[in-house]
Amino acid sequence: MKRHFRVWRGDASGGEIQDFQVEVNDGEVVLDIIHRLQATETPDLACRWNCKAGKCGSCSMEINGKPRLGCMTRMSTFEENETVTITPLRTFPVIRDLVTDVSFNYEKARETPAFAPPPGVAPGDYRMKQVDVDRSQEFRKCIECFLCQNTCHVVRDHEENKKAFSGPRFFIRAAELDMHPLDDRTDRKEYAQASQGLGYCNITKCCTEVCPEHIKITDNAIIPMKERVVDRRYDPLVRLGRKIFRRDQLEDPSIGHGGIPTRSRSGDNMAPSSSEGVTGVAAGLSGAGARLPQGPPIGPDGKMDVAELVSQNAGGPSPFGDDQEFPLRKITYNHPEPDKD
Ligand code: SF4
Ligand code: SF4
Ligand code: FES
Repeated sequence: MKRHFRVWRGDASGGEIQDFQVEVNDGEVVLDIIHRLQATETPDLACRWNCKAGKCGSCSMEINGKPRLGCMTRMSTFEENETVTITPLRTFPVIRDLVTDVSFNYEKARETPAFAPPPGVAPGDYRMKQVDVDRSQEFRKCIECFLCQNTCHVVRDHEENKKAFSGPRFFIRAAELDMHPLDDRTDRKEYAQASQGLGYCNITKCCTEVCPEHIKITDNAIIPMKERVVDRRYDPLVRLGRKIFRRDQLEDPSIGHGGIPTRSRSGDNMAPSSSEGVTGVAAGLSGAGARLPQGPPIGPDGKMDVAELVSQNAGGPSPFGDDQEFPLRKITYNHPEPDKD
């Protein structure tokens, strides 16, 4: 049976929607139709794909205006006489046809401080409670399809926000590390607020709606992060401190502690431990300025240090080797040595 498809074709200089009548068989997905087009009428139709199993995150596209994975969109979900329109992701610059330049996301990944294990714990000695693993495990399901990034109106309609906004994929990364029982950075929320643009998000949940891994991006990552930031900003004791001290005193670093409470290493890492509470009260009363959300120090390039590069306890060897410079130009991936046993 032949069905009507409309596919955007073009490149960075412009393009148009083209019409095709393509055969559709039982059980096929949209990516099958693109492959059939490549095998018949349009051998030069460009489309990214890899696994055809919803796991590599390559085949992101917009199908009838909705950001989806081509390999996970069954043709049976459309009406029999429905026209299927396939267009590239709108938020990222088009390279050709359905292929877009998603390097924005890799730049934001590069800016996100990496996992920072505590000093004195060798990789083989990491021990975590299952309950702590469960909480952040949801975010590890991310396949980096960037459908959430493409959907978020903060950058979809406002190119100018891209500099200041990392997007939902990197909010879940920040939340994941914030919940990680062995991550030694205690300023993830402050960094998300000050440097990743967490405040731009108005929790519309569009990102959650399109996530093919069904990660509850807004409910389980963004909202808890926002709550922690707001908790610190509107803590009644902090407010009392603000009433007692004048603005210039609050901004005077010699008054505040400048330190962020030490993370509890067991139980609920998103909630302050009792010792954190005590520290927080002290900080709130003696220097409310120290409790305002603020980013950690940034380097001369305007970016925060990448923990992997500066930490004495690196997270693990880079699969790219030690001589690789970022951003990657020529990838020299070192395959691990096969186990000889
Ligand atoms: S909930 Fe926030 S991050 Fe997600 S799409 Fe809406 S504005 Fe963007
Ligand atoms: S969070 Fe979901 S939508 Fe966003 S990149 Fe990961 S898998 Fe894709
Ligand atoms: S081809 Fe891998 S997710 Fe679609």
